[in-house]
Amino acid sequence: MKILGIESSCDETAVSVVEDGRKVLSNVIASSLEEHILYGGVVPEIASRRHAECIEQVTKQALKDAGCELADIDAIAVTAAPGLIGALLVGVNFAKGLSLSSGIPLVPVHHLRSHIAANYVTHPDLEPPFLALVASGGHSHIVEVRSPTEYKVIGQTRDDAAGECMDKTARVLGLPYPGGKNMDAVSQNGNPHAFETPRPHVDGSPYDFSFSGLKTYVINTVHHMEQKGEAPNVEDMGATIITAVVDSLADNTERAAKDLGYDTIVLAGGVSANSFLRKRFEEICEKNHWTLYMPELQYCGDNGAMVAAQGYYEYIAGHRAGLDLNAKATMAIDAEF
Ligand code: KG4
Ligand code: ZN
Repeated sequence: MKILGIESSCDETAVSVVEDGRKVLSNVIASSLEEHILYGGVVPEIASRRHAECIEQVTKQALKDAGCELADIDAIAVTAAPGLIGALLVGVNFAKGLSLSSGIPLVPVHHLRSHIAANYVTHPDLEPPFLALVASGGHSHIVEVRSPTEYKVIGQTRDDAAGECMDKTARVLGLPYPGGKNMDAVSQNGNPHAFETPRPHVDGSPYDFSFSGLKTYVINTVHHMEQKGEAPNVEDMGATIITAVVDSLADNTERAAKDLGYDTIVLAGGVSANSFLRKRFEEICEKNHWTLYMPELQYCGDNGAMVAAQGYYEYIAGHRAGLDLNAKATMAIDAEF
């Protein structure tokens, strides 16, 4: 079964054809990242305009690369929530038009579900149940994945997401957008103990996260140093911040896996590309004799293949959308469209 996956929730216009939820036949991505770098972050209006300009061409290319015609496609899967509303609407409306004109069923896909599904295309052997850590620019969740379409949220952030925390602190340190990725690159040889940061935790909620205190810590530290005519060592500060974020993500996930009895751990979302995080989870899983699955780097960030992969499982679970499908800026991972 061939699924066309359409993703436009942030700054990537991405379309892919995936067979049976596992085999990527094509994966085309057009990004407006370069333009957002000028502003230090994603400008929603620019992202929406670029999606509208290129979504048709990206879709044609994805079909061509897969050696398909639209008529060969069994379902059209589209990211419908959560994300930037204007950006999501471009993908959703395009997918609705394609479905109406072709008669091919339309399947709505939740963005975080699709990030988890990035692991299905990387690891054809992976099957639920497993415990997933989903860390992106907008979310930090620990989720029990009971089947490909059944989830239970165990922990989540009370304020900033892990990616957001790294993007914002990187900006304070003068690193260009996308901060998380650039901070990872410059911090490789930094001293992770150079600064004493707050250790974020949420009283009474052992699996929840709180990252906004780290951001405040960096702003205050840099400000105090500047007043004395000093500047922080970006390499050391970067390594310290990443380590504090990774400590929190790793400790809570390890605790949840032990408490709930999971021995299969899955990483997902843009932050799963982080080299410190990947290394830490390799150590934890080796120590506990757990099996670790991480997406291939090209599938960590937003892409159409993960949407098509999740779309396959939503389709066989009987999930469909009509022409009244609307995009939503926020939506829980265990809610249905
Ligand atoms: O999943 P994603 O591409 O988009 C959202 O759904 O938000 O995640 C983007 C986030 C950004 O915050 C970005 O800085 C972060 O993932 N990210 C990283 C790395 N690569 C991307 N954060 C830390 N280290 C990285 N190597
Ligand atoms: Zn994402």
